[in-house]
Amino acid sequence: MRIYFDHNATTPVAPVVADTVARVLREDFGNPSSVHHFGQRAKARLDEARSEVAALVGGDPSEVVFTSGGTESDNFALRGVAETLEPAGRRHLIATAIEHEAVVNTLKALARRGWRTTLLPVGASGIVSADALAEALTDDTAIVSVMTANNEIGTVQPVAELAALAHGRGALMHTDAVQAVGKMPVDVTALGVDLLTLSAHKFNGPKGTGALWIRRGTRLAAFVTGGRHERNRRAGTENVPGVAGMGVAAGLARAKLGAETARLTTLRDRLEQGILAAVPGTTVNGAREPRVPNTTNISFEGVEAESLLIALDLEGVAVSTGSACSSGTLEPSHVLRAMGLPAHRAQSSIRFSLGDGNTEAEVDYVLGRLPSIVEKLRALTGTRAGGRARS
Ligand SMILES: Cc1ncc(COP(=O)(O)O)c(C=O)c1O
Repeated sequence: MRIYFDHNATTPVAPVVADTVARVLREDFGNPSSVHHFGQRAKARLDEARSEVAALVGGDPSEVVFTSGGTESDNFALRGVAETLEPAGRRHLIATAIEHEAVVNTLKALARRGWRTTLLPVGASGIVSADALAEALTDDTAIVSVMTANNEIGTVQPVAELAALAHGRGALMHTDAVQAVGKMPVDVTALGVDLLTLSAHKFNGPKGTGALWIRRGTRLAAFVTGGRHERNRRAGTENVPGVAGMGVAAGLARAKLGAETARLTTLRDRLEQGILAAVPGTTVNGAREPRVPNTTNISFEGVEAESLLIALDLEGVAVSTGSACSSGTLEPSHVLRAMGLPAHRAQSSIRFSLGDGNTEAEVDYVLGRLPSIVEKLRALTGTRAGGRARS
């Protein structure tokens, strides 16, 4: 039995999406910039996908720029705004301390080149407050970037409220909605943002394909310079098969959103409550609401998360940790640390992220296995729940 509970890392490609990618790759090979029949067929595939992606986030097709994914879209938004607004003297950038590395490390790179940056703190809830933003905003803030939903703990941020504050000080608002799109309603008008990032492989689309939605009228320097593709905003011949696949995935995501949200909430809560009841020494990290319906992040006291991940994998269950293992050192998740979790708790945390094909039987299988796995791992290190390691 193989169970995939790591949908925030990536999702399986829907069969109809895979078929679309293969068909477009074979049949619509023209260059969408060419005026002849072959080119126009490829352009039609881009146009269809642009409409689907725009509809998924409540925007206009003309506002959608295709990119190579979430990381590029985040870079495009932040670097594009920084470059565009620099001559106006706006050299301050704000994000939260729990953003994805695509945002955090872009801010760090811009800081090395002279921009002033602020990372807003979050408390144990994993939700940033409007007060924190109000305090950080200045008259030279160019852009505020706050993710719609966090990838590690799933908390949903008050983006609309924050956007109103940012606009009040003349700053632009960007949201990285990579982990929200397809899991909850995402509407650019309701959010009040100027720029929104999305990535196809998080909603059953192909990898290496994404988009930046740019509100009409927003001044933004081209991120990739070259030809006149994507209304002069992102040069390079478009990834037509990938984009076509993303369009189909966007249509599917929109069609199933309401029912799937309810189904995933029920499944996730069954898993979460089951773990809390069956495994002593477990705690949910971050606020339970507002949260995307598929994610729970749980710390298992006295258990090394990497060991638990491997033990679960041996039982056929794929989950993830927020820790990055580099050169033999376990770096605790920057998200959990920003929430104030001590290192040992951050290093004992596991993310379960559910999706499309997951079933109640799979949740129950995991609930059946987990208590004995955790008990065994604790026995190995001489740890009991309720007390730290004995030696
Ligand atoms: C919140 C968030 N932003 C950005 C990304 C990067 O997206 P991509 O993998 O498409 O570059 C991810 C991927 O994990 C993410 O979770």
